Amino acid sequence: MIKSFILKYITLIIIIFLWQGCRQQATVGEPYAIQKVARSSQAMVVTAHPLATEIGVEILERGGNAVDAAVAVQFALAVVYPIAGNIGGGGFMLIRDTSGETSALDFREKAPMAAYRDLYLDSMGQVVEGMSITGHLSVGVPGAVDGMWKAHQRYGRLPWNELLAPAVALASEGILLTSQEAAELNAEREVIRTVNAGPVPFIQDIPWRTGDRLVQTELGATLQRIADAGRDEFYLGETARLLVRESERGGGILTMDDLAAYEAHWREPLIGRFHGMEVISMPPPSSGGVALLQLLKATEHYLIDRDAGTCVQTVHLMTELERRVYADRAKYLGDPDFVDVPMQILLDSQYIIDRLRGIRLDTVTPSSEIQAGLIPGYESDQTTHFSILDADGMAVSTTTTLNLAYGSKVVVEGAGFFLNNEMDDFSIKPGVPNYFGLIGYAANAIEPGKRMLSSMTPTIVVDHEKPRLIVGSPGGSKIITTVYQIILQTLVFGQDLPDAVAMPRYHHQWRPDTLFVENGRVHPDTLEQLRHMGHRVVERTPIGRVDAIWIDDNGSVTGAADPRGDDSAKGH
Ligand code: GLY
Repeated sequence: MIKSFILKYITLIIIIFLWQGCRQQATVGEPYAIQKVARSSQAMVVTAHPLATEIGVEILERGGNAVDAAVAVQFALAVVYPIAGNIGGGGFMLIRDTSGETSALDFREKAPMAAYRDLYLDSMGQVVEGMSITGHLSVGVPGAVDGMWKAHQRYGRLPWNELLAPAVALASEGILLTSQEAAELNAEREVIRTVNAGPVPFIQDIPWRTGDRLVQTELGATLQRIADAGRDEFYLGETARLLVRESERGGGILTMDDLAAYEAHWREPLIGRFHGMEVISMPPPSSGGVALLQLLKATEHYLIDRDAGTCVQTVHLMTELERRVYADRAKYLGDPDFVDVPMQILLDSQYIIDRLRGIRLDTVTPSSEIQAGLIPGYESDQTTHFSILDADGMAVSTTTTLNLAYGSKVVVEGAGFFLNNEMDDFSIKPGVPNYFGLIGYAANAIEPGKRMLSSMTPTIVVDHEKPRLIVGSPGGSKIITTVYQIILQTLVFGQDLPDAVAMPRYHHQWRPDTLFVENGRVHPDTLEQLRHMGHRVVERTPIGRVDAIWIDDNGSVTGAADPRGDDSAKGH
């Protein structure tokens, strides 16, 4: 199975050519050199933007550890990568320190206290289209600033204000737009204009072009206040007042009390075993860790017990497992502070084996025939991930988001940053799909102060007490399957990390009953065979953007930045 999987892929010469092209240092006309693959003997930073990567490396060079670098990168991304980098959003950070202790920081947004189950339904009980996606009502209480503060308080080595200084400078002096950034801002221009009352730095009279300078003066001042006064400035001070004023202006429901009450939480990381290694990932309120471990446990059952055959059969098997895991996600996963997530059962080997019954290796099980498992007694893709390893071996895997591109599109007047539209990650009506097509039920229903279910899957794989792989991805519902695929490709099929990151990706999430594959990246014969087995195959835009680090037995470190974006790797 392993050999044929690799062989099939190797024949996709076009992909190799594309990938070779991506390894070049800079693309003509782009304002910054972008390094897709970096090698080092000790430390590495891989992020969605070359300037953020550079800042992470600078912090390491100044004696900061991986958490210092992560905090600086998070604030830098809020400036250089406004489509997903943020202070108005949230995320998850997984840390493995030099003693091997792991911790998981949940800085996910929360529903405002005035939110309620049917917030996005009209008087007839129908979903009001777009209400949970765009504008002031779609905003959850942001968690990113408190998250960075708590990470720094526990692990930081360098002073807080030094970590924000590079972001302040970039916001005030301006950054040059890459071609992808210019195109993305132009694509959202009308919505951003409609949602915001006054002028915002993200739109100008004429469309953006590659190399144009984006200056964010108000954001620079906001970041300076946070640098000077810490997290309280954002949740209790001038920034909080500006944020609430913006919410009220646009008919939102965020209050000063919501901000004052926000706390990021340290949670127990989820740890499982796969292929003889330890896989550490994020617990609820992300579904990522549970789903990833379910997938890996199920996969191992097949790899040990069966010869699953060719590449097509591998994709088929992955798809069948994904259907079942996403059905469980929809029913059982939600914020553990509000619902009992039956984690032990979901990760129980016998439960997982039972879930595999009915899988056939020659034909699909339609999603309509699959329900969540029976547990007695008893829910844009524009996110961004960065991976950091410092010279002492501390590993940080962080996924952070505004939810969709530029979140709610609301820019806080006077403070200069985008607010998330994370409320759409709740199940706004039982069984009605959200933006990502994910459905959910009571476990992920809106409740005041509750965290919406996420798919973010920051993950660290440990082999013989040493980090082996630091990985994660944006992509909404597709995050879990992207991380799953990278783990299979590297750990099981033995691919070099950069090649694994460049490979075409597949995704199935139970509902809709569709196997998504990246446009034009998979050989027509493979698609034909999958269709013949009964899969409804749909080609779509890129799936995931993986920024990952691989550490060899001999300690050499490879950073792999996804060729699908401006992502950049740099060693130290
Ligand atoms: N907003 C995407 C996620 O959290 O899964």
